[in-house]
Amino acid sequence: MAQQVPLDFLGDLRRTHTCGDLRPAHEGQRVVLMGWVYRRRDLGGVIFIHLRDRNGVTQIVFRAEGDAALHAKAEMLRSEYVIAVEGPVEARSAETVNANIPTGEVEVVAEKVWLLNTSETPPFPMEEHVDVGEDMRLKYRYVDLRRPHMQRNIMLRSRVSLSVREELYRQGFLEIETPFMCKSTPEGARDFLVPSRTQPGNFYALPQSPQIFKQLLMVSGYDKYFQIVRCFRDEDLRADRQYEFTQIDLEMSFPQEEQIFETIEPLLERVCETAGHNVKGPFPRMTYAEAMQGYGIDKPDLRLPRFWPVEDLFPPGAGLTRQGLPLVAIHIPKTGQLSRKERDELKLYGGERGLAVYDDPKRLERDFPEAMAQVRQRAGVAEEDLLLLAGWRGEPKGHRPEETVFQACGQLRLFAGQKYNDRHKLLDPEDFRFLWVLDFPMFEWDEEENRWMAAHHPFTSPKDEDIDKLEGDPARCRARSYDIVLNGVELGSGSIRIHRQDVQSRVFTAIGLSREEAQQKFGYLLDALTYGAPPHGGIALGLDRLVMILAGESSIREVIPFPKTAKGTDLMSDAPSAANERQLRELGIQLRRPPQA
Ligand code: AMO
Repeated sequence: MAQQVPLDFLGDLRRTHTCGDLRPAHEGQRVVLMGWVYRRRDLGGVIFIHLRDRNGVTQIVFRAEGDAALHAKAEMLRSEYVIAVEGPVEARSAETVNANIPTGEVEVVAEKVWLLNTSETPPFPMEEHVDVGEDMRLKYRYVDLRRPHMQRNIMLRSRVSLSVREELYRQGFLEIETPFMCKSTPEGARDFLVPSRTQPGNFYALPQSPQIFKQLLMVSGYDKYFQIVRCFRDEDLRADRQYEFTQIDLEMSFPQEEQIFETIEPLLERVCETAGHNVKGPFPRMTYAEAMQGYGIDKPDLRLPRFWPVEDLFPPGAGLTRQGLPLVAIHIPKTGQLSRKERDELKLYGGERGLAVYDDPKRLERDFPEAMAQVRQRAGVAEEDLLLLAGWRGEPKGHRPEETVFQACGQLRLFAGQKYNDRHKLLDPEDFRFLWVLDFPMFEWDEEENRWMAAHHPFTSPKDEDIDKLEGDPARCRARSYDIVLNGVELGSGSIRIHRQDVQSRVFTAIGLSREEAQQKFGYLLDALTYGAPPHGGIALGLDRLVMILAGESSIREVIPFPKTAKGTDLMSDAPSAANERQLRELGIQLRRPPQA
């Protein structure tokens, strides 16, 4: 329990400065600061308080001589009490200057103090570098958010949003809001449904993105729309995924891909600058096919070198990979000699993904000296680098089996790279390597539903030259879509859209939607496309992921004030929670099972 102490009223007392403002130039000024007691040192005669607000920390000193009542009050102060102090700013002596904080050359000599509120003992220490379990942090998020590292992240997020707005306004974009209560059109993730009280049995859905609305805005002539907008997806949560997250969403009329890139590159340069990082466009580009063949993933982390298909260098019948499937050389720089155990671990990891991993280049060099010399040359492998060859032994898998092999190799490459990262700092978090990935396939095969699905979304245009593959060869039909990738994270996705109703209908058919289903789900879009829809395209960037990387964090929960746990719970308020009988009755809802406790 907090102590029972008499509290003061704020009255008309006003702050003159924040806790981050004071410098030697303020010496001699009388100031009023307000904030939280961060640290307190009682040296008998003198009490030092570090007073904190989101702007910084200032040292307050209560001297014993003089005002006994003041000193007695200072003795009552405890961690996280909320106070106001008034007094003159004094320079600290050279030996007591604190070079670690911007206000460290001065202190305020308290002459008056107001105790505005007490605090229970905080559930965990407020210091930056104390490790606290995440559940505890989320349960007391309002306390956790006071900790300096969270304050830095949340303030960075605000600055990033501001710079996004400034840059997009500079580029002539309009900020327009779109609805949160929409028609359910599940594609990709599941929708969150909102029951309608006035139309029992009917539901709105929260938008997975403003995709259709922004396209409709283009039909309506609002070229260059943007929005920093909350999106909702009922999908499994991970470090880079939340049910609700924020997109920087934009759309333009009459663009080629190039104009989208020309919009986003200066935007990201500016955002990085805001966060204190110097990044210069143009960003490198590669096609999806190149990304798969070089990295085995559609979001390559360029901080590690690519891998190389090398089956052509080996004699027929070398037996290192299944006939017709790739053999891949993976190399990780500067790893030096690995132990037997480490090599076994790599083999096991690859083996679990279907790969036959050859971890002993010496042996391969003995058996295939020429081929191995060429492998080293092709992949640019130095003596101290780790070199692995990986082939495929089992049955070919999937509709694009070579991709299955590359994907497994991509996982092995990252596993090996991350494993040796600590030793060699290969994956420097301050090394921002943006990349555009282009020309994705239009469709992905969905094993569960046994049909093709749109790889991006079904409003993405096929490449002009691939339109006829929509019906004939969907596996090889490429889309006019692009991703912006940063250090192995998909930061954003976009595409040039379909603006013709006939093409849109053909794509719906290709993903197995009957004419009636397409009409029922997307009739309003199909209709709109017949009323003068211009060619259009756009992109959406994940704001949470962007800020996460800029802040050097590895989870978006660190840059979202009130996130959900991996199980989707808000530990603070205990959401989701049961609705009461009356609410359910009004909504016309009867539960089949009682809610889980
Ligand atoms: P997409 O679904 O690829 O595209 O989403 C765009 C970006 O949003 C972020 N993102 C997420 N961030 C956190 N949690 C999630 N659950 C989550 N899901 C997505 C990612 C992703 O790259 N309408 C299209 C965009 C367009 O075509 O213009 C769309 O939403 O950073």
